[in-house]
Amino acid sequence: MFDELLPTLPCETDAQVNLKASALNHRDLFITQGLYAGIKIPCVLGSDGAGEWNGQRVLIYPALEWGSSPNHQGKHFRVLGMPEHGTFAEQITIPKANIYAMPEHLSWEEGAALPLAGLTAWRTLMSRCQLQPGEKVFITGIGGGVALMAMQFALASGAEVWVSSGNAQKIEQAKALGAAGGVSYRESDWDKQLKQQSGSGFDVIIDSAGGDGFALFPGLCNPGARIGFYGGTLGKVNGLSLQPIFWKQISLLGSTMGSPTEFAEMLKFVEKHQIRPVVDCMFPLSQGNAAFDHMETGGQFGKIVLQNTL
Ligand SMILES: NC(=O)c1ccc[n+]([C@@H]2O[C@H](COP(=O)([O-])OP(=O)(O)OC[C@H]3O[C@@H](n4cnc5c(N)ncnc54)[C@H](OP(=O)(O)O)[C@@H]3O)[C@@H](O)[C@H]2O)c1
Repeated sequence: MFDELLPTLPCETDAQVNLKASALNHRDLFITQGLYAGIKIPCVLGSDGAGEWNGQRVLIYPALEWGSSPNHQGKHFRVLGMPEHGTFAEQITIPKANIYAMPEHLSWEEGAALPLAGLTAWRTLMSRCQLQPGEKVFITGIGGGVALMAMQFALASGAEVWVSSGNAQKIEQAKALGAAGGVSYRESDWDKQLKQQSGSGFDVIIDSAGGDGFALFPGLCNPGARIGFYGGTLGKVNGLSLQPIFWKQISLLGSTMGSPTEFAEMLKFVEKHQIRPVVDCMFPLSQGNAAFDHMETGGQFGKIVLQNTL
């Protein structure tokens, strides 16, 4: 059975990357819990990887076969790390087309923290919601890897950012990074508190939680606002009223990861603004299970990274 975990032989269009670090995404945890569509095991998980190839420091585009349309992925699109073997490994064989130069200012750990979260945040915020400088943005669940990247991109674009979290300390950490303020989504009147504190509505809302809290977003929106969402951790939305959505001309914009072109744009932006992804903590690859346990507690602020000791 473990033969299936051995890397396949590389062909000419492949590269063998010596991985230095990788990072967890919620997807990896969902797969171990059986909560992901089309699970095929055994498989090495992991979508994020930073490593060396041909003497260069590289990052891996965390998906395969985006397809030809910039508007949506094609039917052969796959996220790296199930069904194909992923980055929780010392080496990976990957198409050369997936390899990009790592921004020079990043450490291996910061580099590994960037690909999937950065790409998802970039497409949601920039391609889908078309964020403009000076706009006001609300990002939910700021402890999340994608949410934090979205905040860093929005701040670097000159937006004003407000956040929510289930943990008061994470709101303070977000403020230390530049957020204007935040509220606890655990309080039943969080939307009223947010309105009162921020003083006006929002032009862009970024969410991955879904659930009933989503139904409150239109009430927080300015006319012409965009609500971008890339996850639905809490499930279905009850009580969503359509009236404010059509009256305020609000756009609901679903988003998933992003194309290689968007990955390249995102890396350029990170380099230009010298953005450093927030790393919550690091575990040796050999202690991967402890890293999964840490993600399950939900205590993280930023990315959980696995280091390869080479
Ligand atoms: N479509 C895509 O391409 C794509 C890509 C990446 C992720 N996702 C999805 O997005 C979700 C988050 O993924 P991730 O990897 O960023 O996870 P993560 O780093 O583990 O973060 C999850 C975050 O969810 C937040 N959260 C929990 N309950 C919440 C609530 N009631 N209201 C608002 N936020 C809440 C938490 O925020 P606090 O810690 O601040 O409380 C937590 O930090 C998952 O469902 C994942 O599958 C989708």
